[in-house]
Amino acid sequence: MDGREGGKMDGDGVKLAPSILAADFARLGDQVADAEKAGADRIHVDVMDGHFVPNLSMGAPIVQSLRRVTRLPLETHLMISNPDLFLEEFTEAGSDSFLVHWEGNNNLHRTLQRVKALGKRVGVVINPATPAAVLEEILQDVEQVLVMTVDPGFGHQHFLHTTLRKIRWVRRMIEQTKPGCDLEVDGGIEAATAPLVVAAGANVLVAGSAIFGDGDGVTAAMKRLRAAVNQGVKSTP
Ligand code: DX5
Ligand code: ZN
Repeated sequence: MDGREGGKMDGDGVKLAPSILAADFARLGDQVADAEKAGADRIHVDVMDGHFVPNLSMGAPIVQSLRRVTRLPLETHLMISNPDLFLEEFTEAGSDSFLVHWEGNNNLHRTLQRVKALGKRVGVVINPATPAAVLEEILQDVEQVLVMTVDPGFGHQHFLHTTLRKIRWVRRMIEQTKPGCDLEVDGGIEAATAPLVVAAGANVLVAGSAIFGDGDGVTAAMKRLRAAVNQGVKSTP
């Protein structure tokens, strides 16, 4: 049961995935090294194409540079219209896992198989307006589910509390169909919202501005987030 019981889990089992979207790109290597030292479990790389989401971000060269400065797994969140076109390029650059959206992909099963054929971990992502039920036919094919807790495209947005019910539901689906599958959340995660998503059953938390946008620095921010997770877990009835 890996520390989890009925949606409740041990804070030590919760993984933190800092999103570099909120980092200072002039000091990216240092900031990622700080996050690694402060106990980050993986680094979350947000890729946007200005079409699938109304914003542009970064491509494979960033992954290639990061690969040289961190041993942490690099997870690549593809918010792009045709993910299949870029899987090989990111794999060569050093991505360890891919998060691909259910939305807008008419051949999602094929995309998942392509990632697996490249020997990488794969996760499926669902947006706030997408029901958990769409996971039914693909849960067995993935190692991770990412429930977006904001509409994708931008950092520093408000957490959508309506997604908590869906997180609880996805946790139940995972326990029934694919125990061991990670349940990740992304968007608006900070000290106040982290305990809520963990209590609902999330075990991997992406955080951008709460980690890289904190005036006290990355190390203090990571500590604060970890403490909030542990505190929340302890006080959950
Ligand atoms: C949003 C991205 C997120 C973003 C989260 O589309 O997928 O990963 O970086 O940023 P915060 O934690 O600031 O909400
Ligand atoms: Zn993301």
